[in-house]
Amino acid sequence: MVERETWATRAGFILAAIGSAVGLGNIWRFPFQTATNGGSAFLLVYLVAVLVIGIPALLGEFVIGRRSNINAIEAFNKLGRPQWAFIGAIGVIGSFWTLSYYSVVGGWVIRFVYGFGSGVVLDAPQEYFGSVAAGPEAAALHALFMLITVTIVALGIEDGIELATKFMVPSIVVLLLGLAVYAFTLPGAGAGYEFYLSPDFAAVSNNAMTVVPAAAGQALFSLSVGFSVMITYASYLGKDDSLTADGLTIAVSNTFVGVLAGLVVIPLLFAAGIGIGDGGLVSGGGGAGAVFVGVTTALADLPGVAAQVVGVVFFGTVLVAALSSSISLLEAVVSYLVDNYRLSRAPTAAGLGTVIFLLGVPSALDTAWLTWFDGIGVSLFLPVAVFLVVLFVGWILGAEAVDELRQGTSGGSTLPMVWLWGLRTVVLLAILAVLALNFYDLFL
Ligand code: PHE
Ligand code: NA
Repeated sequence: MVERETWATRAGFILAAIGSAVGLGNIWRFPFQTATNGGSAFLLVYLVAVLVIGIPALLGEFVIGRRSNINAIEAFNKLGRPQWAFIGAIGVIGSFWTLSYYSVVGGWVIRFVYGFGSGVVLDAPQEYFGSVAAGPEAAALHALFMLITVTIVALGIEDGIELATKFMVPSIVVLLLGLAVYAFTLPGAGAGYEFYLSPDFAAVSNNAMTVVPAAAGQALFSLSVGFSVMITYASYLGKDDSLTADGLTIAVSNTFVGVLAGLVVIPLLFAAGIGIGDGGLVSGGGGAGAVFVGVTTALADLPGVAAQVVGVVFFGTVLVAALSSSISLLEAVVSYLVDNYRLSRAPTAAGLGTVIFLLGVPSALDTAWLTWFDGIGVSLFLPVAVFLVVLFVGWILGAEAVDELRQGTSGGSTLPMVWLWGLRTVVLLAILAVLALNFYDLFL
């Protein structure tokens, strides 16, 4: 039997996991969500959600993955709890589901990279977005994005995902830093920082019933928990890592990139006099086209070539971020078939890529479908899956989870015990509250 792959280095695992976390969520959704829901007051709620639910759940997934060293469904069998394997299955289905529309947005990003390359996108950004977002061309670019994703995953853990993310993640950070510095030099950027970061507590408290679960949902989506991805990535680990240290590195990096993306996008919009929210260009704030139309309109202000260069760099960065996440979504599904049915990786990745592509076709033909898939994924699948993971690790694995978390560290058991009891109580209740609010919003 062929031996199961592992990450070549610890840094390789960390970068792959950061690559998964940092994605469209950070750039396409987070900045607008923050800016339109109370600025730094929203950020505060988001950070609390990362700390209280996100990080503990992330460590829980790491524990399941590393302890079993097998795909996210089989993991539960290997841990001697086969009746809980449905949790892994829900996550894998969530990955399948999410990738179908994530890839459509990835296709838009490709379209904007070459729209900026040729310059046509600058003439009428709103119309341009309208004409490329849905239709046969969007479906074709969705196919192209999926093809790139499949190619990387087909190459395997070490020669595909690890190698690719080793280049991708540093590029994302460097390019975003460059763009943030550039945005800083624009006259009028100051108003953007103020809008982005000044706390508007009323905006949060007046709509707490929707803003709080939205912040929590975004925090979980952003950390890539719930969809079996982090279980899968950790299953390729050896015992000599501190899961806690790695988890913190990943969570901090992901939040940093989200905030940084806002420091690019928001000042850019304000420098161009566009503004956000009521009366601004993207009033309502978080629509699927917001970042595309907003950033492009802002750049159209610059003299020709500068606009094109900055546009290609910006959307090129978004593309890299999207790909380093899409490969993790596909890997969660691929690893199950490869491990359990001994299928070879490349044809499995290609076959699954095709099926997921087909599931995404409605989203590529009509953005209303995309919004629906995204809504169900983030407000239903995600909190349900995270709730089950937390329940399982806290109450079913229990002491075994603590033991696994301590492997590879020299620390005592105080912190791991705090984590365990946190999972069993506060984390579980918090995620339950989020779930209840989402249910209420969706169905009542
Ligand atoms: N974390 C990614 C983002 O913010 C999306 C993602 C979710 C990727 C779940 C993998 C698993 O864009
Ligand atoms: Na993210």
